[in-house]
Amino acid sequence: MAVDIDWNALGFNYMELPYRYEAHFKDGAWDEGGLVQGNTLQLNVGSPALHYGQSAFEGLKAYRTKKGTIQLFRPDLNAQRLQDSASKLLMPPVPTDQFLVAAKQVVAANADYVPPYGTGATLYLRPLLLGVGPNIGVAPAKEYLFTIFAMPVGAYYKGGMVPTKFIVADHFDRAAHYGTGQSKVGGNYAASLQAGKYAHEHGYGDAIYLDPIEHKYIEEVGSANFFAITKDGKRFLTPQSPSILPSITRCSLLALARDRFGLDAEETQIPITSLADFAEAGACGTAAVITPIDSITYHDQVHQFGDGGIGTVTQRLYDELTGIQFGDVPAPAGWTVTVG
Ligand SMILES: Cc1ncc(COP(=O)(O)O)c(C=O)c1O
Repeated sequence: MAVDIDWNALGFNYMELPYRYEAHFKDGAWDEGGLVQGNTLQLNVGSPALHYGQSAFEGLKAYRTKKGTIQLFRPDLNAQRLQDSASKLLMPPVPTDQFLVAAKQVVAANADYVPPYGTGATLYLRPLLLGVGPNIGVAPAKEYLFTIFAMPVGAYYKGGMVPTKFIVADHFDRAAHYGTGQSKVGGNYAASLQAGKYAHEHGYGDAIYLDPIEHKYIEEVGSANFFAITKDGKRFLTPQSPSILPSITRCSLLALARDRFGLDAEETQIPITSLADFAEAGACGTAAVITPIDSITYHDQVHQFGDGGIGTVTQRLYDELTGIQFGDVPAPAGWTVTVG
């Protein structure tokens, strides 16, 4: 069935598709779960997800290849990260097999909504794990709901692979050093709304956070990790911190930079005062893909990277990553999973 969507005009917006997956955890076990219709949940008003933020989520994409097949990019890592987030919030982990079966079912059932190859658009999957049921005290829920819903999306930042301006919002912290920063949990995003609003109102694509202890080192961007390329073009650096989300895109770029481009690829502390050492910088994530950073504003000083265009290394990494995701470039073993 052909669906009536202008694939080239898609942004990162909600859309309800015909099917989603839902499973329930009760009496110590997950049920088998299955596809359901409708995106409205009926939850007990005492659900800990609603009051105390006992909720975790994921984000991954399904890509249409030139041959017309559909593939997922490293979904096993999303399953693993959801298990890590669940463990942080004392929620029962969704087994990897169940996560993968669910993701494939949702993609297959909504296959008409996986955008055509060549549009750059993809089907975004949002797995969501919630503590539900009648509770009032601050304690883990006894029952849980796991769902995956989906929607076709285009670029996350306006214009896609366009150099974007960011601002360091060091009057806000995203997450505490020993808090939940490394988990993909709802509370981190509630805590990021003010900084995001501040950045947008001042004309920036998003905020960059500094480490919550000293406010010296770069952490990450609102919903993407940070990377930079040194002036000699030989090193790919990305922050090391216990309070940033371990991005699957970043982990993939570290491997590609090292194994395919022979760069020195390293996680290390990156002082905000060291921007002059870098020729290129970018924000990376499932939604952001690779967004080149045009400039970073820090305490009224604007640091411009390069000449405002897309850096050579950033472009090569983007082409390699998206080439793998859309099936045009051979993937390292196990990185892509065909649906169907
Ligand atoms: C705070 C944050 N950092 C980084 C990322 C990028 O992670 P990934 O590459 O796994 O999508 C995301 C998006 O998921 C995010 O929300």
